[in-house]
Amino acid sequence: MKGATANKLRSVKLSITLIALICTTLLIWAWEKTPLLTSFIPPSESFDVELSMVSPVIRSEAPPTYISFEHQQQHLEDDSSKAGTPYNPVNGLYEENEGTDTTTSKDPVDKNAQPGISFPPEVMLSNISDGETQDDIVSSWVPLKKKECNYAKGKWIADERRPLYSGFGCKQWLSEMWACRLTQRTDFSFEKYRWQPENCVMPDFTGSAFLTRMKHKTLAFIGDSLGRQQFQSMMCMITGGRQTYVVQDIGRSYGLVKARGAIRPDGWAYRFPTTNTTILYYWSASLCELEPLNRSDPATHYAMHLDRPATFLKHFLPRFHVVILNTGHHWNRGKLIANHWEMYVGGKPIADRRLAQIANAKNFTVYSVMKWLDSQIPHHPGLKAFFRSISPRHFANGDWNTGGSCDNTAPLAGGSEVTQDSSSDPVAEGAVFGTKVKLLDITALSQLRDECHVSKYSIKASAGVNDCLHWCLPGVPDTWNELLFAQI
Ligand SMILES: *[C@@H]1O[C@H](CO)[C@@H](O)[C@H](O)[C@H]1NC(C)=O
Ligand SMILES: *[C@@H]1O[C@H](CO)[C@@H](O)[C@H](O)[C@H]1NC(C)=O
Ligand SMILES: *[C@@H]1O[C@H](CO)[C@@H](O)[C@H](O)[C@H]1NC(C)=O
Ligand SMILES: *[C@@H]1O[C@H](CO)[C@@H](O)[C@H](O)[C@H]1NC(C)=O
Repeated sequence: MKGATANKLRSVKLSITLIALICTTLLIWAWEKTPLLTSFIPPSESFDVELSMVSPVIRSEAPPTYISFEHQQQHLEDDSSKAGTPYNPVNGLYEENEGTDTTTSKDPVDKNAQPGISFPPEVMLSNISDGETQDDIVSSWVPLKKKECNYAKGKWIADERRPLYSGFGCKQWLSEMWACRLTQRTDFSFEKYRWQPENCVMPDFTGSAFLTRMKHKTLAFIGDSLGRQQFQSMMCMITGGRQTYVVQDIGRSYGLVKARGAIRPDGWAYRFPTTNTTILYYWSASLCELEPLNRSDPATHYAMHLDRPATFLKHFLPRFHVVILNTGHHWNRGKLIANHWEMYVGGKPIADRRLAQIANAKNFTVYSVMKWLDSQIPHHPGLKAFFRSISPRHFANGDWNTGGSCDNTAPLAGGSEVTQDSSSDPVAEGAVFGTKVKLLDITALSQLRDECHVSKYSIKASAGVNDCLHWCLPGVPDTWNELLFAQI
């Protein structure tokens, strides 16, 4: 009897849920279609300059360098000049140049930097999808308003409008080693998917929508080579891979110049003069401050201060409006030894044996950096800070150096949906919990995409070495950027 009642109740509940779902869908659909709401999106006239025909006004002290194709070739060759270093996707990463954090500290702080520029009204749409809007008119149209949407929960959907740029076309920004279209790979069906979160409205990413939203703003990616992939993806997405965009190299104003003897600078900074938007990337694989232990020794070891954020991040934070941090794949003994990094806490080599274990050291660092960042946000009211959760590796039948591979080419062979509410990266989730730093949670959704890695097609791979860590571009990092766009 009890069971029957319960069953009945359950089916009633189910039908209510179903009806609610249908209504919700209709409302969202109506919301997307209704012209009323388009009035909340600023008209394109609000551009100072038309995006296509640009003659940039130069206001920076140092004459900006305009990016020619040749220059970019060199940007690419920065990678190939790694040829001396065997391709070593340790955990899939190149031995990257290290420890030049200190060079930036010579760089004077820009006194003109204006922290705390608040976002213009075009942010509206994003805070609606965040479920944070306080605008009554808008919220009456959005039934999902109260529910904080979780961008990480949802599914991959086939979409002919993907990818957002061609892997043949974005030579200006894309490293050859990640441009799978330029390799022997023949199967590209993986490019034609987009991520649909279950409860969130995903705005269409277009270069002009992005630049409009980021007008007079600076977006900084700081992290390891996976962060660099996201940076390259972003440059390709904004420009659509076309070389007609006018983009200025302003690396110098961030101290991002190639040091003598270095293979490449520690990062890059580019400005879109039409909207005065800067996109930059800085290589900081651990997010820690690295301090040379003997400045006069070119082969010096470095103190890796687990309790101090990277100097570059600390120094330039006032100039950023959006910052996306990541770390993860350099936290292993081999990487620390190869990079001559020695873990320090409180200004001294780690004495605590528990903390000396790498997993604990990483956890400690991520928590420390997030705590510090959270403490900075009140001083920079316009700042949106994200921590990107770990990008999953897909080595099967071995690791990167023991014949591991990722040979599947069939998209989503292991399923297309993420149903869990929590992140698959508990360290990242825990570290941002209770802070104003947002989690850019890409772990579980990327986990479903084992077919999207560079795999054996890497142009520099030694025989038998697969890269099941880095992603083909266009590819999964584009989705990370779409999710980022939805949240800024
Ligand atoms: C949403 O964005 C608008 C425009 O920037 C801002 O005034 C408002 O405070 C934001 N709302 C929330 C809840 O962040
Ligand atoms: C460009 O944007 C920066 C912030 O990223 C701002 O400080 C600067 O004043 C802007 N420049 C112009 C010419 O508007
Ligand atoms: C620092 O490095 C220089 C050059 O290798 C060396 O001569 C010097 O002895 C080192 N200093 C210390 C304190 O180890
Ligand atoms: C990471 O550090 C935090 C803060 O100290 C701690 O609460 C948490 O339990 C740690 N997590 C792991 C997996 O060690």
